[in-house]
Amino acid sequence: MKNAMNPHFKKHILCIGAGYVGGPTMAMIAHKCPDYRVTIVDINPERIAQWNSDRLPIYEPGLDEIVRSARGRNLLFSTDIEKGIQESEIIFVSVNTPTKTFGVGAGMAADLQYWEKTARQILKSATSDKIIVEKSTLPVRTARAMERILFSENNGVHFEVLSNPEFLAEGTAIRDLEAPDRVLIGSRQTEKGLEARQQLADIYANWVPQERILTTDIWSSELSKLVANAFLAQRISSINAIAALCEKTEADVSQVARAVGMDTRIGGRFLHASVGFGGSCFKKDILNLVYICRHYGLNEVANYWQGVIDINEYQQEHFVVTMLNAMFNTLAGKRICLFGFAFKADTGDTRESPAIYIARRLMEEHADLVITDPKALDNAKMDLKDSKGNVCFVDNPYEAASGCHAIAVMTEWRQFRELDYERIYRSMVKPAFIFDGRNIVDHQRLFETGFNVYPTGKPVLTHL
Ligand code: NAD
Ligand code: UGA
Repeated sequence: MKNAMNPHFKKHILCIGAGYVGGPTMAMIAHKCPDYRVTIVDINPERIAQWNSDRLPIYEPGLDEIVRSARGRNLLFSTDIEKGIQESEIIFVSVNTPTKTFGVGAGMAADLQYWEKTARQILKSATSDKIIVEKSTLPVRTARAMERILFSENNGVHFEVLSNPEFLAEGTAIRDLEAPDRVLIGSRQTEKGLEARQQLADIYANWVPQERILTTDIWSSELSKLVANAFLAQRISSINAIAALCEKTEADVSQVARAVGMDTRIGGRFLHASVGFGGSCFKKDILNLVYICRHYGLNEVANYWQGVIDINEYQQEHFVVTMLNAMFNTLAGKRICLFGFAFKADTGDTRESPAIYIARRLMEEHADLVITDPKALDNAKMDLKDSKGNVCFVDNPYEAASGCHAIAVMTEWRQFRELDYERIYRSMVKPAFIFDGRNIVDHQRLFETGFNVYPTGKPVLTHL
């Protein structure tokens, strides 16, 4: 059936929020569903201009190709939010929901101001029935608040709110969207709720197998998103806690992770010990979960999840202390090269990257920093612009490491595995150190080259 608003398309979809989630998810829908017109709007005109240019605002492998395949055909980027709302039957809300920085719940609760402004804008502009899809990650029971706002004017327009959390990970977003483990849709169990749920499921059914489209009640869907992130982060904190014990006992955390992960009940993924997890969501979503638990008086439950964050903070500080101890208890005036600044490989995103904390701490110790990263240097400059200390940003890792006393591996970029470390060693101040916060370089080989090697959760290899 073609659509009355524009007969070329079966349906019009709008996404409010053209960020890391809105951009890739909607590009994938447009790419897979040529019958649907997909418009993405944002309050930030610069971001929209970038989406309309050859240089997209985010780096994500494979994203350029799918945007190019659909842009101008059935994928549009615009700043006209009102028109977008009026012309669409299905509206995804994918605005940011950061941790609150002020007032009640500061540092813990989700800041819902962007989300609420969107709800009010939808209410103001809508002249026909809409399905509103929560794509942002939200506290459980937010759909009820959304409904309250949308139904506050009794203007004859019906709104049906669905929860459809996004599980993509940055760096693999296109792969994750193309073949998701599951698509989760939560709805009210009313006739209209189930009908709306079906309309959303029909979109995904264009490329996602039926058995991977999971439907639940709306609260379970909202909560599942927070829980999925909490479980993933918990695995990282668990292995990082064990890494610290390995360092004391000369056990090797990679071998422990392998032995433990081969138990099919546990599974081997997400057990890479590291300098700590970063990214815009794990910390914020767990803090939010902790806040909700406290709100309901579940203090023991809140403390349990808070522990996941505490270990992550410990891990970052532990990395700095290891550097300090290894380098004769002083970093003042020493040149330290950070290999990587992104919170993980294959993204330019640095939000909550452990590298930010570590860079600041090293500057507090009066170290001079040289930072290299294939995609994240622009963000790194912004992150450190107010920090006191000497820092420079260098594209080429060989130039960056030259003249340094130590290298600290912050991000698991493939490029860093493949460098000529003999050349790097020759260019560094001796004794030369490498602190591998990702366990990606060949520790034995680097040791034989002359480096003093400090892996994460493994015995150190030192000539001193
Ligand atoms: P983002 O900051 O990259 O993008 C959000 C966009 O929303 C921004 O461009 C902002 O300008 C826009 N916006 C804010 N208020 C608006 C308004 N009133 N009208 C129009 N546009 C508005 O954020 P993101 O990383 O895309 O995350 C969005 C949501 O998705 C968050 O809730 C996050 O927790 C969740 N999420 C993120 C990821 C991820 O990998 N980044 C994965 C899954 C879920
Ligand atoms: C994470 C989840 O994996 C996604 O499912 C979710 O949709 C997303 O959060 C979100 O809600 O924003 P993302 O943060 O993009 O995705 O990336 P991850 O691959 O989960 O990595 C997060 C952090 O954990 C990175 O700093 C990574 O280096 C670190 N990590 C990951 C480890 O230290 N060890 C591991 O074994 C795995």
